[in-house]
Amino acid sequence: MSAQTPASESDRTTLATVRSIVGLRAAVAAWRREGLSVGLVPTMGALHAGHLALIRRSRADCARTVASLFVNPTQFNDPKDLKAYPRDEAADAALFAAEGTDLLFAPPADEVYPAGFATQVRVTSLGDCLCGATRPGHMEGVATVVAKLLNQVRPDVAYFGEKDFQQLQIIRRMATDLDLDVTIAGVATVREPDGLALSSRNFLLTPEQREIAPALHRALSAAAAELAGGASAGPAMEAARAAILEAGFRAIDYLDLRAEADLAALEGPDRPARLFAAAWLGDVRLIDNEPVESGG
Ligand code: PAF
Repeated sequence: MSAQTPASESDRTTLATVRSIVGLRAAVAAWRREGLSVGLVPTMGALHAGHLALIRRSRADCARTVASLFVNPTQFNDPKDLKAYPRDEAADAALFAAEGTDLLFAPPADEVYPAGFATQVRVTSLGDCLCGATRPGHMEGVATVVAKLLNQVRPDVAYFGEKDFQQLQIIRRMATDLDLDVTIAGVATVREPDGLALSSRNFLLTPEQREIAPALHRALSAAAAELAGGASAGPAMEAARAAILEAGFRAIDYLDLRAEADLAALEGPDRPARLFAAAWLGDVRLIDNEPVESGG
């Protein structure tokens, strides 16, 4: 695959936007006729530097990059959460354009879920733990919309952030199981200087909550270092829980040590593993994960 730069700087200020699957397919087909490779960056908007890192990766790998912007209602198990989700298409389009995105696919809900829509993609086991257990229906909503996007765009590569590591592994499994002809690429989590993982949900934090938020990553990093040094999982994870709650988080949905490959629960890092956490700061639910080196 060869990457291409836009023809001129002026291309960086405007962004072609399509809202229909027919329009999307026509644009991608024209690139395919020219023999160009295509990368897809699926998003729900509310862009931050983590999304832009996905676009940059796609532009480095592929000749053309499609970004999708669709706040997918089926992955929100709480209607309040869906309503509160930050939306600003014009601001997002400007950021996509500045990053050199070639096409924005921003469909309305009835283009994605027309009347009578009745299909769900469920990835068992990988999708039943962590956020799958604490947000019923969420992972099915993600897998279903990503399966549709992959089929609509038919990219060579689709890019997802490691911050949503469970989502990434579910999408990899789904693409393999459904014989989808696409490479699923994971891109490292982008963090604020204080360690907070970039997330569209950070926009919902009050200034006080924003001060507290990095405690989640601090606690995971400290526990990961202890586990890598050979500490037993129980006390290390208990200390992490206590640190998160003492910092001002109101509740923890989960704090688990799991295998990277299949997300199996682990007693210790005896294979490539990560600590995963989801915790509530007021009404905002933040997630993060941290790799753990094999125990010493
Ligand atoms: O990670 C996200 O933003 C969403 O879950 C995704 C992959 C765009 C599907 O709606």
